[in-house]
Amino acid sequence: MANVLIIEDDEVFSELLVMHLEDRNHVPHTASTLKQARQLLAESIPDAILLDQQLPDGFGTDILKEIADHSPHPPVIMITGVSDNTLAIQAMGLGAHDFIRKPMDELGLDTTLSNALKSHRLSRQVSAITNTQDYQVDIGQIVGRSPSILEICKTIGSVASRNAPVLITGKSGTGKEVVARALHNHSGRTGLFLPINCSALAENLLESELFGHEKGSFTGAIVRKEGKFEQTADGTLFLDELGEMSASLQAKLLRVIQDGSFERVGGTQTMRSNARILAATNRDLKIMVGAGHFREDLFYRLNVVHIHLPSLRERMEDLPLLTEYLLSKINALQHTAVKHIAETAWRRMKEYQWPGNIRELENILTRAAVLARSDTITADLLALPDSIETKGFETNKIIDGIPPQLLSLDELENEHIKKILEYTHWHKGKACEILGISRPALDRKITKYEL
Ligand SMILES: Nc1ncnc2c1ncn2[C@@H]1O[C@H](COP(=O)(O)OP(=O)(O)OP(=O)(O)O)[C@@H](O)[C@H]1O
Ligand SMILES: [Mg+2]
Repeated sequence: MANVLIIEDDEVFSELLVMHLEDRNHVPHTASTLKQARQLLAESIPDAILLDQQLPDGFGTDILKEIADHSPHPPVIMITGVSDNTLAIQAMGLGAHDFIRKPMDELGLDTTLSNALKSHRLSRQVSAITNTQDYQVDIGQIVGRSPSILEICKTIGSVASRNAPVLITGKSGTGKEVVARALHNHSGRTGLFLPINCSALAENLLESELFGHEKGSFTGAIVRKEGKFEQTADGTLFLDELGEMSASLQAKLLRVIQDGSFERVGGTQTMRSNARILAATNRDLKIMVGAGHFREDLFYRLNVVHIHLPSLRERMEDLPLLTEYLLSKINALQHTAVKHIAETAWRRMKEYQWPGNIRELENILTRAAVLARSDTITADLLALPDSIETKGFETNKIIDGIPPQLLSLDELENEHIKKILEYTHWHKGKACEILGISRPALDRKITKYEL
């Protein structure tokens, strides 16, 4: 049994909550304005609070901040009809315990509430930790209403102001950089957000990009150069495609993460960095650790907080919202005026596998919008390639005259790799990802089959 304060101006919804809580043997109290809530809170502190965002005399987040400023304070669960993810991030950052979107299911509420009560009891037994960071919120939008995206936004809100590294994983085009920027924008850090692509540079250049170099340290080093760690100061360094980093650089990175120290290439003076490190990869680092291609200690250091972005295929319920959002973005950038997607086109989009995820969605919509002659995108404008899955072997005879089931494994492999390379236009990185093999393995097979 717990005392639960409901701060909600919608009488019907508030009454529903009251009945539901009474059913569960809790004692509900209600306030329909912030003023009333403040009065009740001055009289007695409940065990948990259910809080709406839009109230007649202000926002739920206003009182959330006041509540969270006290330590210890009861867990606050925001229940709101506002579909803006920025609010979820902001609320979690202000110290909300959880965030539920209306319409909500009763079971979800029960679980959330009992978890909140339990963790509140535990936190009182240990020491109360409150997150009272106040952010100015304005970020590159994270669009999506799927549970996985909401979870990600909540995590961003909870960890943005911390110093621990964050590992962001997900297939290509799923929004890893978007999440990295959101983490920086909500961190309260004054320094820069600097992204660096670890796969785009040769090892020695990457080292000098990251750590800087002294004059004369190698041919071409005519002047001393500051690396990203210095430039970022106390900002955020985003190491993109980290899986491609060489062993010796992994060791240097581990050292900066452990104690913030590093040297410029060719330098003897030990430098210090306060940069927050965010790392992204579309590789499976755990498998790479197993295969000896990635340092285990570095993996554990980076993996303290892990955000995994689902593929678009795994959150197709977000397709309508993403499409709407991207169309307005494209219209603004390309000066187009596309408003509709034709029914046939939409059906095609729903069936398609989207191997390139949101980036592919954006590219395909951009091309269609630019080519469109009316305000509607039709199926022919989408020009969606056949998904690999639909290019079945049954329908494609592989070698003339011989049914596929009579091919040897090598022949099948040869044909399959060829197909994937054609599909990715010989983008070996993407081909490796689809095939689930490493780059050297792919190169060996290309040589073997003389592709
Ligand atoms: N949730 C989202 N809401 C809105 N736009 C998104 C979202 N996720 C990704 N995008 C858009 O999709 C594109 C790809 O995102 P991003 O560059 O962050 O992907 P990535 O995971 O870093 O991909 P890669 O591994 O290929 O570098 C960007 O234009 C980004 O703005
Ligand atoms: Mg990226």
